[in-house]
Amino acid sequence: MNLAIMASGRGSNAAAILDASASDELDARPVALITNRENVGALDVAESHNVPAYAVPRLAFPSRSAQQHRMLEILQDSGADFVALAGFDAILRPFIVAAYPNRILNIHPSLLPAFAGGMAPVPQTDALRAGVRISGCTVHVVTEELDAGPIVAQAAVPVLPNDTVETLADRILEQEHRLYPLALRWFASGSARVENGLVYVDSEECQALWPHTAP
Ligand code: GAR
Repeated sequence: MNLAIMASGRGSNAAAILDASASDELDARPVALITNRENVGALDVAESHNVPAYAVPRLAFPSRSAQQHRMLEILQDSGADFVALAGFDAILRPFIVAAYPNRILNIHPSLLPAFAGGMAPVPQTDALRAGVRISGCTVHVVTEELDAGPIVAQAAVPVLPNDTVETLADRILEQEHRLYPLALRWFASGSARVENGLVYVDSEECQALWPHTAP
């Protein structure tokens, strides 16, 4: 797997993925990290992992579409054959999604389909406001419909009585860092496939967690 990461913020998920790929945990070669902003932590994360980093800020382009055409060019030039959105706060244009069919994953800080659509900390805030007792994170395949692609993996955490948005977000984030490299590993090893809008994983590790995902 030649993996590109797209991020917009501090880059803690990018760091978890790059750490996993530097160890035996994830068999992926990181080829690029792309941000849609300048001066964000994710760029430092790429630098510290010796991964080529590209800032593609909106204002440098006449339109969002032109900005994303540049991102697609970087993806293709870097040889990326798989993309991980890690706190990326722009909606991918259909031409990028179509260039990587079932080859783009995203992580979202809720148990989808609940609290879809917003960027952190909106999903965590909405979960607290709704009074849910359990929340978590979801890794899913990116399709044209926002946060609605086939679910690859989920991890649940309790919502505690004294939680603030920050304490809940931190508890979820700890699971994100565990879950995202795991989900990527199933695609890197070829054990995950997408069929009729569902993800099936031919891996003992996954089947132990979620027996219904057996092929
Ligand atoms: C993470 O909590 C991720 O789940 C969320 O943004 C945060 C990025 O943190 N993503 C979304 O809200 C996507 N809709 P990070 O920059 O430290 O990885």
